[in-house]
Amino acid sequence: MYNVKKIKEDLFWIGANDRRIALFESVYPVPTGVSYNSYLLLDEKTVLLDTVDKSASHQFFENIEHVLNGRKLDYLVINHMEPDHCAEIQTIVEKYPELKIVCNAKTQTMINQFFDMKLSDANYILVKEGDTLSTGKHILSFVFAPMVHWPEVMVTYDTTDKILFSADAFGAFGAIDGNIFADDVDFDGRYMDEARRYYTNIVGKYGPQVQMLLKKAAGIEIEMICPLHGYVWRKDLGKFIDKYQKWSTYTPEINSVLIAYTSVYGDTQNAAEILAGQLAELGVKDIKMYDASVTHPSYIVSDAFKYSHIVFASTTYNNGIFVNMENLLHDILAHNLQNRKIATIDNGSWAPTCGKAMIDIISQLKNTEIVGQHVNIKSSVKTDKVAELSELAKAIKASM
Ligand code: FEO
Repeated sequence: MYNVKKIKEDLFWIGANDRRIALFESVYPVPTGVSYNSYLLLDEKTVLLDTVDKSASHQFFENIEHVLNGRKLDYLVINHMEPDHCAEIQTIVEKYPELKIVCNAKTQTMINQFFDMKLSDANYILVKEGDTLSTGKHILSFVFAPMVHWPEVMVTYDTTDKILFSADAFGAFGAIDGNIFADDVDFDGRYMDEARRYYTNIVGKYGPQVQMLLKKAAGIEIEMICPLHGYVWRKDLGKFIDKYQKWSTYTPEINSVLIAYTSVYGDTQNAAEILAGQLAELGVKDIKMYDASVTHPSYIVSDAFKYSHIVFASTTYNNGIFVNMENLLHDILAHNLQNRKIATIDNGSWAPTCGKAMIDIISQLKNTEIVGQHVNIKSSVKTDKVAELSELAKAIKASM
């Protein structure tokens, strides 16, 4: 049965939720699921904006048929060619063979890569930056947003109703639980952490490109943002845009300490816990700790974008960094984190090599400063190391 949500008199959400998916992009746990958003505009011409993942196809086609209510589909606007949004292009084209695909040249190339369709140029309206398309009452304008999150990405701006169809930008992990508007849910309490985890892990590497999009968006009046995942924004847009400003400029949200450790028998954890307690005694609030062997790195990457200071503590393993810490550090490096103050602790019973190897990776992060003296634990924490940890805590506090 159809399940659609009215956004405006002539605009409908026709997407679907997936709460059974274990790993988004086969990498990221999504314990509260994910939504694949697609929108249908009923103007003099009918306009479908993006499709959905193949897992959502049954619901999607029920929805589109219900909203079209016998009308033909005139345009399919493709903002993003990643298969969580484009999977149903071929089926749509076969079902509505008279429609025109509205996309850019890079998208057209990707359509030919992903699908085996016999299309000619007559099936396309190829757009360039700033081009417009009149659909009757509405005029759609196309704004390119390369690398937010793929090179072909564009966003579509409805100049009539001042709605930005923002592709992956302003999305979030988490299924849509009945409501469609972000202001109808406790977004800060329930979704902001997942919006951050979504942004940092999916788009975090491309901060400068997100900045370019934000600068373009600042030049237009936006009353509503319709992303491809998560809730639609119609109030307090500035609040979410401000988060994007911080995330895309690698600016910490809070002045506090994130501690990520890996520990085989508990001694490295013990050092991390002692440091955390010392920081608390020095007045540091809202310290956060993770065992990087237990928590998926996407959560730690997300908090690494939130916190101003990070401590990495790891045991030496196979003459290098313990595998889950090494994975985390490479993940943080791959996501281009910058502007952080970082301290390190390592442990090694006979040949501690982990600390130097960790610092070698951390040193590659731009505008990042190593704080305090590296602390090396030999097997377990002794009194002299408590003193060294205390000095490290003071150095971290002094740098805040
Ligand atoms: Fe939600 Fe980059 O796709």
